[in-house]
Amino acid sequence: MAQPQVHSVPSSSRLDQVARAVRDLLHQPDYDDGSAGPVLVRLAWHAAGTYDAATKTGGSNGAGMRYEKEGGDPSNAGLQHARAFLEPIKKKFPWITYGDLWTVAAIVAIREMGGPQIEWRGGRTDFTDESKVPPRGRLPDGAKGADHIRHIFYRMGFNDQEIVALSGAHNLGRCHSDRSGFNGKWVNNPTRFSNTYFKLLLANDWKKKTLDNGVEQYVYVEEDIVDEDEDEDAEEPEELMMLPTDIALIQDPSFRPWVELYAERKDIFFEDFARVFAKLLELGIRRDRNGKIINEENQQDGYKSAPKKSDVATAPADQNKGQLGHEAKPLQEDNERIRRRREGAKL
Ligand code: HEM
Repeated sequence: MAQPQVHSVPSSSRLDQVARAVRDLLHQPDYDDGSAGPVLVRLAWHAAGTYDAATKTGGSNGAGMRYEKEGGDPSNAGLQHARAFLEPIKKKFPWITYGDLWTVAAIVAIREMGGPQIEWRGGRTDFTDESKVPPRGRLPDGAKGADHIRHIFYRMGFNDQEIVALSGAHNLGRCHSDRSGFNGKWVNNPTRFSNTYFKLLLANDWKKKTLDNGVEQYVYVEEDIVDEDEDEDAEEPEELMMLPTDIALIQDPSFRPWVELYAERKDIFFEDFARVFAKLLELGIRRDRNGKIINEENQQDGYKSAPKKSDVATAPADQNKGQLGHEAKPLQEDNERIRRRREGAKL
């Protein structure tokens, strides 16, 4: 006779199966730079980064991004791709909560991309309605400076060193003009976790550039790659970029020494990143001595996993409204035309 399903914190053998499934989906040759890893890392960060220590609201418990109120925040534009990548895993292992799945996927992705092993603890439950979903506007704005960064991260309970360590995640992935309005990648190999981001911040002479959509970012083109004698048909090197908030890390006298340390000492960066990312994923989660989560919603519902959502990445209707990314669509189309023309020229 079928036993009634008991909701509890997932066992390590069940979690191993999920981790294996995440590893198997990372390779996505047709997506971005060939890996789902970076966007999965951003999903976990944005799920957790809504935490407000003063009111003890927000954080990765609850998986509020399933609701339009949080999922439709312009800061979360594009993260529907990460959520859709994980849907087949949710379908295969329906017992896991979205809160646990989104966070464990990031840990697995970071490790698989060559990063440190990060401690992760399970037991998050999923909200059953949007009453506890945090308000929009709690995530950082890349167009701003050091004061803004501090305002956002101090609210969560991080200090300057921790802010710099966390920012090292910009070794991964890229900016998309149709998501944030910024465009490009920070490092040449954006699917390999390392301390290259810090090295490049210090080594390169970053120049401000205004994109066609009006967004300002910093760019650098490696001179030795742009060779005058280069074969005309050869692919142009992609310009590397930094956000104004990234540049603030080398301009601010209290952030900069940490950038210098992490540029020099990859081992220390990995150690600090592992500790701080683990702290990020635990924000807002209260546990008893045995590690069991004792947030109100967990006490009411136990290990409550929400039903599966769509496998397909669909953005909320208003996701980019009033946001530069929305206006950047023509730019994206232009880029696509140029890319096609270039490919055509090669044939
Ligand atoms: C001042 C703080 C931060 C700002 C302003 C910021 C801003 C941004 C922006 C604008 C993008 C591009 C989004 C897009 O167009 O697709 C991005 C991407 C990314 N961010 Fe951050 N971020 C910050 C901190 C962090 C932290 C703390 C982490 C993780 C620990 C992180 C991880 C990532 C990753 C992995 C991507 C690449 C996503 C992809 O490839 O789709 N960021 N960030």
